[in-house]
Amino acid sequence: MKSLKTDDVMKKGIILVFATMLCCACCGPKTNTAVYLDDSKPLEQRVEDALRRLTLEEKVALCHAQSKFSSPGVPRLGIPELWMNDGPFGVRAEILYNSWEVAGNNNDSCTAFPALTALASAWDPSLAARYGKALGEEARYRKKDVQLAPGVNICRTPLNGRNFEYMGEDPYLVARLAVPYIQEIQKNGVAVCVKHYAVNNQEQWRDSVDVEVSDRALREIYLPAFKAAVQEGGAWSLMGSYNLFRGEHCCHNDLLLNKILKEEWGFDGAVVSDWGGIHDTRQAALNGADIEMGTNKPYDEYYMADAMAELFRSGEVPMEVLDDKVRRVLRLNMRTAMNRNRPWGSFNSPEHTALAREVAEQGIVLLKNEGNLLPLNTEKFRSVAVIGENATRVHAGGGGAAKVKARYEITPLEGIRTRFGDKVKVNHAMGYCSYTPLADRVIPEPYDNAELKKEAVAVAAASDVVLFIGGLNHNRYQDSEAFDRASYELPYGQEELLEAILDVNENVVLVLVSGTAVDLSFAGGIPAIVQGWYGGSEAGNALAAVLAGDVNPSGKLPFSFPAQLEDCGAHAFGPEAYPGIDLKEVYKDDILVGYRWYDTKGIEPLYAFGHGLSYTSFAYGKPKTDKSFYAKDGTVKLSFDVTNTGPVDGAEISQVYVSQSKASVMRPVKELKGFAKIFLRAGETRRVEIELPVSEWAFWDEAGAGWVVEPGEFVLHVGAASDDIRHSVSVDVK
Ligand code: BGC
Repeated sequence: MKSLKTDDVMKKGIILVFATMLCCACCGPKTNTAVYLDDSKPLEQRVEDALRRLTLEEKVALCHAQSKFSSPGVPRLGIPELWMNDGPFGVRAEILYNSWEVAGNNNDSCTAFPALTALASAWDPSLAARYGKALGEEARYRKKDVQLAPGVNICRTPLNGRNFEYMGEDPYLVARLAVPYIQEIQKNGVAVCVKHYAVNNQEQWRDSVDVEVSDRALREIYLPAFKAAVQEGGAWSLMGSYNLFRGEHCCHNDLLLNKILKEEWGFDGAVVSDWGGIHDTRQAALNGADIEMGTNKPYDEYYMADAMAELFRSGEVPMEVLDDKVRRVLRLNMRTAMNRNRPWGSFNSPEHTALAREVAEQGIVLLKNEGNLLPLNTEKFRSVAVIGENATRVHAGGGGAAKVKARYEITPLEGIRTRFGDKVKVNHAMGYCSYTPLADRVIPEPYDNAELKKEAVAVAAASDVVLFIGGLNHNRYQDSEAFDRASYELPYGQEELLEAILDVNENVVLVLVSGTAVDLSFAGGIPAIVQGWYGGSEAGNALAAVLAGDVNPSGKLPFSFPAQLEDCGAHAFGPEAYPGIDLKEVYKDDILVGYRWYDTKGIEPLYAFGHGLSYTSFAYGKPKTDKSFYAKDGTVKLSFDVTNTGPVDGAEISQVYVSQSKASVMRPVKELKGFAKIFLRAGETRRVEIELPVSEWAFWDEAGAGWVVEPGEFVLHVGAASDDIRHSVSVDVK
């Protein structure tokens, strides 16, 4: 028999337990939080919890736009909208909810970072990381959830109107820069949307051209940067491209999206269509599209709206297919808009401006410098003629989707005046004026080019040195979305103008403001050429710093400049290989893109991939490897000394290319597999150490549908450019 005392204790205990349960149920902060809203719970658990609460209509609503740049959340459940925004170099100005008209806000003028070609020319993953961090901070401050960037398409032809948005012709370089850029943007709780997947290498007929490319070229050239973005960068979203690949639009392409991206690479994020890139409801439902944006129809008439709901309602397509899309959108949402812990970001900070300048400075490439005309000797040259429309033109606000409303943009003339104005006389002449060709006519600018030329030649004759700031711009058929360039030549009579200027003054520095290679075959008589890119907010200051020698140029080209267009692989096979015949295009250049083509075919480009001069010089010591035999999964530790043998401090980008001596398949003469950028004081020597995983030397075996490293000899070439190899060393793979 229990004692009374024991009963009392038990009763008290029971009361206590009830009281505690009651208290937790009434006022415990966590107990009522739904799992999908509870960020202490694992992501997948939250996704499943949200998914099971949704009606079919709510699920479908998540899969298409509700405005030009947003998709809806689930208002009933407090799942927020997703706000997306262009682009790779800054946070684009607001447009109206339902139209492309600018909103006219006064709080959306951003830091314009230099174009990605400039970033690529710096060959510096840590700089790419800082670029991503700053861009992510600006996007976050502007309350964006998805930044439609970076662009990682390969530069196959200099005519592609969007080369300026990408990072050049080499998949390894693009991947190494894209990964840190992506990781750092996303630390802000802002997703990247890596674009444009895939084989979108021209703007001509971009909505309708059907690209055929071998599996091998797809895997070795066109996909590696996307794969790295997904698997190493951890990209949370990705944008399908406009074009078709093997008969299916890339925004709903079974092979690219379902098989490769999602199944093979394990991508768990959302596939966003390019704006207006969806063309078919069934294909969109089945072939891997997750969010439809930009279709030119009322939102409920989008392909992935009411019509898609019907496919699932009727059971024609299994609900599991829709659930997979919705899981991806929910994941994207929970990683961004629903992430309560993401930082607040920052906008137009001095740090961002300073970074924009640093990228612009590090990206400038000195292509040619005969007689050391640069840096400008202001003791010798007492007057400077600044000629060319790009001396006074701003560019950040053009180009298509990549345009931004820059808080400010320093033009080259402003930069040059600020830097040199108190030392030398700066004379200015416009020289030429651009015009905009439309489909069937030309819109003339309000200047007479013959008069401008006359004036410029007189100014050049009256000055000690000429800084010709020319190149391209973002007009149609130049560096511009939706249009490829009409020709490889410099437009607007610049060649003739430069020739006339050279007749009266031989001290000419040609500065190219452009995002792609241009024909410089006429420029043999020009002693100095600088590739200036589109430099963003601080463009003019960065350029002036390099011209003055405050900054020693260290940029190296991320793509080759063919001597003539026909030398380029994409242009060597007639129109079938570019831009296509009857909207069919076959990439007959296959894996031989860029320097892979020039090297293998023995064609000398005018300026090779990786080329870039400095105001100092560098000597390379013999490279050593840690072993001479490696397993297929081994890593080569390569080391070599680099010495700054010239008079000033400077940075050198050392490049390692790998060749396979005897292969069972055709391989390019050599391929970039490593690089390092080091800063050296004048006279200083430093050891460079680069790790090269042997697995990255594989080729794609079409028959076996896999990567193969063949045993045998591989040669590692160390050099300052793809056409400036200083030493080579062999290793064996067992
Ligand atoms: C471009 C994309 C861009 C989208 C939204 C499309 O025309 O191809 O790069 O992100 O528009 O502006």
